[in-house]
Amino acid sequence: MNIRWGILGTGGIAAKFAESFRYAQGGELYAVASRSKEKADQFARHHGIPHAFSSYQSLADSQQVDAVYIATPHPMHFENAAMCLKEGNHVLCEKPVTMNAEQLEHLTDLAQQNGCFFMEAIWSRFIPVFCRVNQWLHRELNGEAEYLRADFGIYKPFDPKSRLFDPHLGGGSLMDVGFYPVWLAIHTFDSEPESIHAEAKFTETGVDHFVSLTLTFPGDRKADLMCANQLGTPTRAEIYGNGFRIEIDPQFHCPTRASLTQGDETSVFQSGFDPHGYQFETTEANRCIAESLPESPHLPWNRSRQIIRTLDRIRQEIGLIYPDEVEQADLNR
Ligand SMILES: NC(=O)c1ccc[n+]([C@@H]2O[C@H](COP(=O)([O-])OP(=O)(O)OC[C@H]3O[C@@H](n4cnc5c(N)ncnc54)[C@H](OP(=O)(O)O)[C@@H]3O)[C@@H](O)[C@H]2O)c1
Repeated sequence: MNIRWGILGTGGIAAKFAESFRYAQGGELYAVASRSKEKADQFARHHGIPHAFSSYQSLADSQQVDAVYIATPHPMHFENAAMCLKEGNHVLCEKPVTMNAEQLEHLTDLAQQNGCFFMEAIWSRFIPVFCRVNQWLHRELNGEAEYLRADFGIYKPFDPKSRLFDPHLGGGSLMDVGFYPVWLAIHTFDSEPESIHAEAKFTETGVDHFVSLTLTFPGDRKADLMCANQLGTPTRAEIYGNGFRIEIDPQFHCPTRASLTQGDETSVFQSGFDPHGYQFETTEANRCIAESLPESPHLPWNRSRQIIRTLDRIRQEIGLIYPDEVEQADLNR
């Protein structure tokens, strides 16, 4: 089965997805859509994509497209994904999949009603080194993980108009890079946290640029996490448990190396990839679509639910409210 893909949006991650695509198995990059015809044409030319659409709706409407990769800023994910699912397209949607848990429920309902595959694009889950870490954690080690430490800080100069700082574009470090340590903790402990302690610093645009978090999971297992978009950090993760330590270092969200230490023995697993590592999530989506699965068994809807519910709770704790939510709160008053 050859699955014909369309890309919705022509920004930074759309380009990396397109560059990775030819390393994926089971699909064909068929079209791209932009809000501007010029950008769609340029992106299509640059990436050798045969069709360019000058509106997102025309991509969703196309009978030639089977699956859509959504690469717009987070506040647009809900509307864009809903549009595609309603037209019967399978959807791979960038992270965070929606701005809140309620929106995600609508999308999974739509996927079910329309018989579509739907997955959040948590590419990290399918990177080969992470798959090995997952085997260590959930299949091979005796005793559960007890403690996790992970950081994800990038340095970006403050620009109120950029996606990372503009609240109308879902700005802030938590929803962008902070997503990854929160996902890793939930994946490691395979549950939502029971309690959350969070502290944040805010920019003048009203979004967080630094968050430190302690999440406590059932069984008093803990994760100490941080994220920032004005501080560069090593992006390291360490997971400790009964007689073991796993280190994913550097770049735990797209690792090429991880080690497992038990007593005096350390085993290292290394595996590289070209060019960016987005092909593995695409291969998984293609496999699931070919098998008519609505969700990936390795990244089920419930995992996305656990993450977005946790992000909702963290935002509540630090007082991070986005403009649409302020308007909604005003309407409800
Ligand atoms: N998985 C990863 O490694 C990774 C990395 C980076 C980002 N992301 C996620 O991917 C999403 C996009 O991030 P990005 O860095 O690619 O963003 P970006 O470079 O700003 O691109 C976003 C694209 O979305 C479209 N868009 C639609 N409505 C828009 C609006 N109101 N304002 C600006 N752009 C709009 C634009 O395409 P057109 O103008 O062509 O319509 C734009 O090029 C985010 O949700 C982010 O969390 C994931």
